[in-house]
Amino acid sequence: MADAQQQPSVLIVDDDANFASAAADFARAHGFQTSIAHSLEESRRAMGRGMSDLTMLDVTLPDGTAFDLLAELDARQHSRIALMTGETSLETARRAVGLPVLDYLLKPLCPQQFESLLSQASARALAQIAGARPDGIVGDCDAMRQLTVDLDRVAPARVSVLITGESGTGKELVARAVHDRSRRRGAFVAVNCGAIAPDLLASHLFGHERGSFTGAQQRHVGYFEQANRGTLFLDEITEMPPALQVYLLRVLETGEVTRVGGSENIPVDVRIVAATNRDPIQSIEQGKLREDLYYRLADFVIALPPLRARGTDVVLLANVFVERLNAEHGQVKQLAPDAERMLVRHGWPGNIRELRSVVQRAYLLSDGPLVRIPVLGRRALPLHQDDSSIVFHVGMSYADVEREMLLKTLTKVDGDKTEAARILGVSVRTIHNQLARLAVAGDDAIPHV
Ligand SMILES: Nc1ncnc2c1ncn2[C@@H]1O[C@H](COP(=O)(O)OP(=O)(O)OP(=O)(O)O)[C@@H](O)[C@H]1O
Ligand SMILES: [Mg+2]
Repeated sequence: MADAQQQPSVLIVDDDANFASAAADFARAHGFQTSIAHSLEESRRAMGRGMSDLTMLDVTLPDGTAFDLLAELDARQHSRIALMTGETSLETARRAVGLPVLDYLLKPLCPQQFESLLSQASARALAQIAGARPDGIVGDCDAMRQLTVDLDRVAPARVSVLITGESGTGKELVARAVHDRSRRRGAFVAVNCGAIAPDLLASHLFGHERGSFTGAQQRHVGYFEQANRGTLFLDEITEMPPALQVYLLRVLETGEVTRVGGSENIPVDVRIVAATNRDPIQSIEQGKLREDLYYRLADFVIALPPLRARGTDVVLLANVFVERLNAEHGQVKQLAPDAERMLVRHGWPGNIRELRSVVQRAYLLSDGPLVRIPVLGRRALPLHQDDSSIVFHVGMSYADVEREMLLKTLTKVDGDKTEAARILGVSVRTIHNQLARLAVAGDDAIPHV
């Protein structure tokens, strides 16, 4: 495991002391913490102190072979081990083939291959650290580092926060983090102002008394009261009807709500976090957002940059998603070596949500230990995709429609082919056949296995 200074670690096991120390020097120069063992016995002792992010294991050692050691370890550990051998003997090659180890290297080592092995191991180690943050926010670029600083400063204060950013940039995730770090004891209540019929929004937000309108058979406590002493997240704030924006502003000024059909003024202590994927200033000009409300909501503005402006965060995020899927599925897959190139090349119009779904899809479709990121962008991904809907365009073929249905359903059921077959009303064999056909056709979204 990487240590507190975020330095990844490598264990080099080789009875050739010169080779081992040269390899260790190389790894140290690439930012690794190194340890060396010259026999199986020594390597067992080193592993007993904790598994390194990468173990480079010579096949032939004085007290046995690498295969003896591999037999003692489980698959999760195999995936962190690269075998090395100086002999190209048929027997070694035969035994190594089919072992689920990370890589198989011939000595003398080729520096490029060594480097790419190290960079993969360090990316994985970083992802483990980045993915362990309790708020789940992953990012290492300047903007995301600044966000962490801002969150610590702003969350505990009683200021309103407006979060802007394209769809899928993490606005809701950040809104939750604001609440979690605020130490406000009440609930976090999220309301999507664009998803509730305009004429019902008032009663949802502020509650209503029994009989206040047709269909109001019960008294209803609104979101404001539910979020008392907590945080109310008003998502897609520009979709709120202007008349309601006026009323909202009054509630924020007075700190009291009146239920629809009621007369009592009920005091509420609510922290507001609002979000929009539009430019708020432009929305004001277009009359979609009242200027006075904007100033009340935007004590502090967090502008989340699109994924394409976050540099190599895309690679870090992809590694974190793979690690999360590993934990969930009890597997030990990792990104294929060319993944980085594929990931930074794409524009990610759907941002982190799109990335997550691409990684998840590639993960489910990879049968081997490597998760291959497909060539993206040639087939336009729907802009507002989510896990439960599919956008079909006129001009798509039945084959495309079928492909989307299949892949989306598989994603939804976490790759459970039996469950997907049940939902789609076909046999499991049909699912397998379709996947195989897509793979054979070299489909963009299907990793080549
Ligand atoms: N920095 C991040 N690190 C890890 N996961 C992230 C990050 N940003 C977003 N995500 C994940 O991406 C997905 C989309 O994020 P979220 O729903 O917060 O986006 P949004 O900006 O609210 O999108 P929309 O405008 O479409 O509602 C979620 O699964 C979220 O957990
Ligand atoms: Mg959202």
